[in-house]
Amino acid sequence: MPHPIIIDTDPGVDDAQAIAIALLHPEIDLLGLTTTYGNVDVETATHNALLLSELAGKDIPVAQGAAAPLVKARHPAPVHIHGTNGLGDMELPAVKGKAEARSAAQFIVDTVNQRPGEITLVSVGPVGNLAAALQLDPSMVDKVKQVVTMGGSIREGGNVTPVAEANMFNDPHAASRVLTAGWPLTLVGLDVTHRCVLTQAHMDRIEASHGMLGQVLAGSYAFYRDFYREFLGIDGCCPHDSCALAWLLRPELFTTARGHLGVVTSGDAEGQTIFAPEGRGFIEPRWSGTPLVDVCLETDGDAVSQWIADSLA
Ligand code: BDR
Ligand code: CA
Repeated sequence: MPHPIIIDTDPGVDDAQAIAIALLHPEIDLLGLTTTYGNVDVETATHNALLLSELAGKDIPVAQGAAAPLVKARHPAPVHIHGTNGLGDMELPAVKGKAEARSAAQFIVDTVNQRPGEITLVSVGPVGNLAAALQLDPSMVDKVKQVVTMGGSIREGGNVTPVAEANMFNDPHAASRVLTAGWPLTLVGLDVTHRCVLTQAHMDRIEASHGMLGQVLAGSYAFYRDFYREFLGIDGCCPHDSCALAWLLRPELFTTARGHLGVVTSGDAEGQTIFAPEGRGFIEPRWSGTPLVDVCLETDGDAVSQWIADSLA
């Protein structure tokens, strides 16, 4: 049976790769895409979600959500990483479809309530929509099957600050609510996504396989790769968001640990995720008060990158 999932996303070059996997993979039943600001503004995120779905020949509901963080001011979009249009500033075909009239949070609540215990929420952007869904209907905690969140960092350090990963930094207040809500949650953070590199050779196979969708993935990859080469000295790019799907479908490629998570919401460490392993005593109990979750600590990066390429090619 394929996994019924909703992806909450800010596409975004690596989001587009993850969305394409979800659209194409026979083990995934993509019930909807919910959009948030992050890599781009929310209207652009919605446009790109609709476009990717249409390029794959699918009619997937797209519901627009958070335009800004819950509390802090919105940080400018990282146009040097994803381009102004989120897809590497490629010229893009026109979109025919329209977003749902419902908000992203309402879409999540309605869809999960129709199939309690069955649906996995995969978040690959700032998590304001998940926080809003929890606020609309706190019973989501017991009704989702699981939550897989690409974000955070346990031992790896940050990518937008010395200690914070982008999705957590973009809305630390929402992240704090979502990561401590008490639902079954796995954090797929930089500890594993930084072990994975999607290379030009992978992308050549992907481009050859999927017509216009392959061209959009390859063209946006080329822009994203320039950033990785210039700023991180990597020849290729980290497919952060696809790693959340790799964990869902191929968990044996990852090592996880169980414990308590917190998110720093202000000061120099804002957006930092703090992990206290289950059963480990510290000088005070305050780091171990939140509900237990799972975090990814290690992965076979080559195997995950290969799985991503195979899923898209
Ligand atoms: C995350 O931040 C975004 O820029 C990427 O799409 C990914 O979701 C990586 O830190
Ligand atoms: Ca993303």
